[in-house]
Amino acid sequence: MRIQENISLKPFNTFGIDVEARYFVSVTSIEELKEVLRLKDYSQKFFLGGGSNMLLTNNINALVIHLNLKGISILSENDDNVVIRASAGENWHHFVIWCLNHDFGGLENLSLIPGNVGTAPIQNIGAYGVELKDTFVECEVIDINTFETKTITKQESGFGYRDSIFKGKDKGRYIITNVTFELSKKDHKLHVSYGAISDELKKMKISNATIQNVSNAVISIRQSKLPDPKEIGNSGSFFKNPVISNKQFKILVDLFPEIPSYEVSDTQIKIPAGWLIEKAGFKGKRLGSYGVHEKQALVLVNYGTAEGKDILNLAELIKVTIHRIFGISLETEVNIF
Ligand code: EPU
Repeated sequence: MRIQENISLKPFNTFGIDVEARYFVSVTSIEELKEVLRLKDYSQKFFLGGGSNMLLTNNINALVIHLNLKGISILSENDDNVVIRASAGENWHHFVIWCLNHDFGGLENLSLIPGNVGTAPIQNIGAYGVELKDTFVECEVIDINTFETKTITKQESGFGYRDSIFKGKDKGRYIITNVTFELSKKDHKLHVSYGAISDELKKMKISNATIQNVSNAVISIRQSKLPDPKEIGNSGSFFKNPVISNKQFKILVDLFPEIPSYEVSDTQIKIPAGWLIEKAGFKGKRLGSYGVHEKQALVLVNYGTAEGKDILNLAELIKVTIHRIFGISLETEVNIF
C-alpha cells in the first residue's frame, strides 16, 4: 500500500476531468481498506469506485481511496439458480460478461453500463426494463465510523428508481466491499418488451433469443446512442427522468401533444428528460470542448479538455431552461464534487 501525492484523477473518472487528488491510495483487500480507514493523519477521505457517475469540479483536497478489490465467486447453486458474489472493484460490464460466459441469466439487459460492481447498488443501476435490485441479494459493507463489517439485505437497501439508502439516509456511511446476486441457470426469463430490444433482435433476425442475444442487442443499442467514455468523456444520463403528477401532465399534453410518457402509478407519470432537453434545443449543442451529446440529449459530454465547472454551468443552464419552458425541475443523477 503506497500513498501518493498530487495524482491526476483524469484516468479515474469517465468524464475525463483533469483534477488532482492531494493524496491517493489504491486498496486491493478489505484488510488494506480497514488499515487506510484507521489512518489518523488524513482527516478527509474520499472513496472512488469506477468514477462513472461523478462530475469533479475541483481538486480533491483529501486522501482519495481507490476501491480496487477484485474477485468473483460462486457461493451456492442448485439446478435452477446460482448465487454469486463479486468484489466492489470488478468492472461491471466484465462481471456481466463473466456471467453470460457461464450462461447465468439476469444481468444481460445491464450490459455495457460503465462503472464497478461496488457502486452499482448506490443508484440501483437500470436499463431496458431491468434494474440491479431484480437480482440483488445482499451486499457486504464497512461502516466508516465503526470499521465494522455488516451485511445489508435487499429489503434494507431501500431500492427505488436510481435510488437506495446508500445515496439517501445512509449516504457516506458505508463502503460497499462486495455484492451478492442470484441468477438463473436455465429457463432464463428474458426482458425484451422494451421496444428498442425487440426491434434490435428483429434486425439481428433472431426469433428464439438467448441471454447472450439480448446482451448483444443491448450492446448494439447502447453503442448506437451512448458515447463510449474511452472516446468521449461522459457519465451516462446526467439527469434523472422526472416524475410529475397527472394534473401537470394534462397541462403539458395540451401544449405539447407529442410528449412521450411512462405511467409510474395512478397519479404519477415519468417523462424522458432527454425529450425535454432536445425540445428545448440543446441536443448536439457544442460549446468548445464540452456539450450535449448529439444522439442522446440526456448525456453531457467532455470532448477532451473541459473543466468540471464548465459542464456544471451547462447543466444549470439546461435546468433553468427546462423549468422555464415546461415547469419541471430536473434532478441530477450524477454526483457533483
Ligand atoms: N428522447 C428524445 N431525445 C433524446 C433522448 C431521448 O426525445 O435525445 C426520448 C425518446 O422519446 C425516447 C425516450 O426519450 O424514446 C427514451 O429514451 P432512451 O430509451 O434513450 O431512455 P432514457 O429514458 O433517456 C433511461 C436511462 C438510461 C438507460 C435507458 C434505457 C435514466 C435517467 N436513464 O434513459 O440509463 O440506458 O433508459 O433503459 O433513467 C444512465 O443511467 O446512465 C443511463 C444511460
